[in-house]
Amino acid sequence: MNYRHSFHAGNFADVLKHAILARILQHLNGKPTPYRVIDTHAGAGRYDLGADDALRTHEWKDGIARLDRSPLAPEVEALLAPDRDTIAAIRAEHGAAAYPGSPWFCRHALRPFDRLIAAELHPQTHAKLAEALARDGRGKALAIDGWTALRANVPPKERRGLVLIDPPFEEKDEFETLAQQFIAAHRKWPTGIYMLWYPIKDSRAVSTLIDEVQEAGIARLLRLEIDVDRPAAAGGLSATGLLIANPPWRLAEEAQTLLPALTERLAQGQRPRYLCEAIRPDG
Ligand SMILES: C[S@@+](CC[C@H](N)C(=O)[O-])C[C@H]1O[C@@H](n2cnc3c(N)ncnc32)[C@H](O)[C@@H]1O
Repeated sequence: MNYRHSFHAGNFADVLKHAILARILQHLNGKPTPYRVIDTHAGAGRYDLGADDALRTHEWKDGIARLDRSPLAPEVEALLAPDRDTIAAIRAEHGAAAYPGSPWFCRHALRPFDRLIAAELHPQTHAKLAEALARDGRGKALAIDGWTALRANVPPKERRGLVLIDPPFEEKDEFETLAQQFIAAHRKWPTGIYMLWYPIKDSRAVSTLIDEVQEAGIARLLRLEIDVDRPAAAGGLSATGLLIANPPWRLAEEAQTLLPALTERLAQGQRPRYLCEAIRPDG
């Protein structure tokens, strides 16, 4: 376990992931019934973009700093509002260099009767997560393996909510593990919303994941990807994706507005690209 999200917080991949996470939470809040979020690889909850780790990579400069530069088109800003609102709230509480991790997005969105279970295995990161969720009876920070947390907590008793699966992709077989664990969880709870994050370094790994998920009979899927065309010489990630199962019904349409604008704002080369693909049972 060498991965530390503090080196990458607020980068272009976080910008996409958190904009979509904030939209899903907004949709969940659109109905009065309680829900639960299960965040299997939760991270620290709150990051300091002025701290050594973030300053060593400066990844946030090509991520959230670009979003901060100026507002996007009004229809894009309308969709980004829950994302911007969460970031403004953490800055108001913790200063201008603060950036929220996924559990903080949840904490900000949850209503008094909604719940969050956040698993984080790395001891120091877990301590930060526990602090970020302290004095908030709605969220629980578990110092356990995220896959164990997933198996133990689906289906949640609310029978409504979101599973966020955002592993570090340190292991060679992490795509395979992601597919297996997601398919097993989906069998136990086929109606939950699932959001899987993945890096795109090898497009075959992504198509294998999608094939395996479809072969398992999981049919209501939304695949969202952006490639910022980072020059190879610069190293690091250029493309990232989200696979969402049982997406809220307007999310695909919203992504068609959000992704082109985010891709243009986050582009690092001449040929950025995005993909919004709704995969439905009838093909
Ligand atoms: C990509 S980061 C999570 C970022 C977070 N979801 C966010 O959006 O702010 C992955 C996290 O998983 C943690 N981790 C690694 N292996 C784990 C495991 N087996 N179970 C739970 N957490 C793990 C790492 O310490 C790291 O903090």
